[in-house]
Amino acid sequence: MLRPLIAANWKMNLGRTEQALALVRRLRPAIAAVESVEVAICPPFTVLPALAEVLRNSPIALGAQTMHWADGGAYTGDVSPGMLRGLCEYVILGHSERRAGHGASASDEAVNRTALAALAHDLKPIVCVGESSAQRDAGETHAFVGRQVSAALAGFETSAADRLVLAYEPIWAIGSGQAATPAEANRTIGLTVRGAVAECLGEDGAARVRILYGGSVSAENIGSFMAMPEIDGALVGGASLKPEFAELVRAAGG
Ligand code: PGA
Repeated sequence: MLRPLIAANWKMNLGRTEQALALVRRLRPAIAAVESVEVAICPPFTVLPALAEVLRNSPIALGAQTMHWADGGAYTGDVSPGMLRGLCEYVILGHSERRAGHGASASDEAVNRTALAALAHDLKPIVCVGESSAQRDAGETHAFVGRQVSAALAGFETSAADRLVLAYEPIWAIGSGQAATPAEANRTIGLTVRGAVAECLGEDGAARVRILYGGSVSAENIGSFMAMPEIDGALVGGASLKPEFAELVRAAGG
C-alpha cells in the first residue's frame, strides 16, 4: 500500500504572507491527527519561504507550482531547481493551466526536462496529465493521456518510482464542479496512466508510483475517490483555499 498524498494547489491565490499563514495556522491543528495520508501545500512562490519557516518539523509538506529546468541564467521570471531545493519537497509540473498558457516552456519536452531536473535536485515532481472535453468526446483520452505520460517520463530510471507522483486531471473537471466519476477516474488512472508508467518504469516501478486524481475534488466526494484501488490521493484546487480543507483531509484519511 502506498501512503496517499493530498496535495493542495493554491494556484494564484493566497500569495500574501499574512493570508497564507492565516490558513496554515488553522489547518495545522485541524489535521494533526491524520497520519494515514500525507498532505502537501503548493502555494505561490511569494510565500514559500514564510511557509517553509512555520512548517519546519511539521508533517505538512510544501511544493512549488512550476519551475524551470535550468540551473540559472537569462530566464526572466523563472525559478530554478536549485532555488527550490531545501525550500520545498514537491513541484507540480505540466499543470493544464500552464500547458495552455505558457507555450514551449510547458511543452511535453519541457515537462520531461524539468521532471528530470527535479529528481536531480532532490525534488519530487507531481506531473499533471489530462485530456480536454473535445478529446474525451472524440474518444482520444487513452491515446492522448498515454502519450503525455510517456513523453514526461522519457529517460526516467526505475529508481525514480518512489519519488515520482502523477496527477490525472481531466481538463473538463478542473474548477467546473463536475468531477469525473470515481470509476471513470480509476479506470483511466489504472489502464492509461499506470499502464504508460509501466512501459517506462516496468510493472514493479509503476506499482510504486503514486497517481492522484484532480478536478473538482471536495470534502464530499474525496472518500469515493480514495476508495478506488488505483487512486493514491488527490490534487485539490478550489477546495484547498479555505479552512474547510481540513474536512477534506480528514475524510481522505478515513
Ligand atoms: P479544482 O482544481 O480542484 O479547483 O478543480 C484542481 C487543479 O487544477 O489542480
